[in-house]
Amino acid sequence: MKVLHIDSSIMGDASVSRQLSQAIVTQLKAKHNNAQVEYLDLAQQTIPHLTAEILMGQNVEQTALSEKLIQQYLDADVVVIGAAMYNFGLSSALKAWIDRISVAGKTFKYTENGPVGLAGDKKAYIASSRGGVYGENSPVDFQEGMLKTVFGFTGVNDVDVIRAEGVNMGAEMKDKAMADAMAKIQVI
Ligand SMILES: Cc1cc2nc3c(=O)[nH]c(=O)nc-3n(C[C@H](O)[C@H](O)[C@H](O)COP(=O)(O)O)c2cc1C
Repeated sequence: MKVLHIDSSIMGDASVSRQLSQAIVTQLKAKHNNAQVEYLDLAQQTIPHLTAEILMGQNVEQTALSEKLIQQYLDADVVVIGAAMYNFGLSSALKAWIDRISVAGKTFKYTENGPVGLAGDKKAYIASSRGGVYGENSPVDFQEGMLKTVFGFTGVNDVDVIRAEGVNMGAEMKDKAMADAMAKIQVI
């Protein structure tokens, strides 16, 4: 079982989403002794923003990187993404990854009946952290909402969100949010 583990928080060891994504991967490894994990730390190894040159395949090095990231995404049986909410959306590092893997003809295609995802048959976990409280499907949530949309667009509809929110609203709120999220991870 191939697991693609991605982190994107800028906060290193103090990051909530990193703690959650690591706990999810640890749990997956405990349950599946054939789990092989590939790890991408998008805050450490930043992916350059997409440019016209990269999009047009005119940068050999960046084309190779795009192809590697797409193949890694296609090959994964499970994707675990640590995603912090920044300004209601995702970190720019994670957006840069999305811009590389959302590619027509590779991870989705357009048909007469609309777009069809080509990266299906995998499971995704979103390890979500937020300073405030938004709950499920908030109209100002462009973080979990965007990730779920991108997963769905590429054919991945089996998506679980493990969320710790209100983590900047005092130690008590944070501790409870973490304990609740960790309890959910234990029953994955
Ligand atoms: C640049 C920046 C922007 C943020 N924007 C929001 C926001 O829009 N809404 C929110 O609830 N929390 C926001 N936060 C708080 C983070 O979501 C919160 O600290 C979360 O734990 C970050 O994930 P991490 O601990 O994995 O880094 C922001 C934090 C940073 C650093």
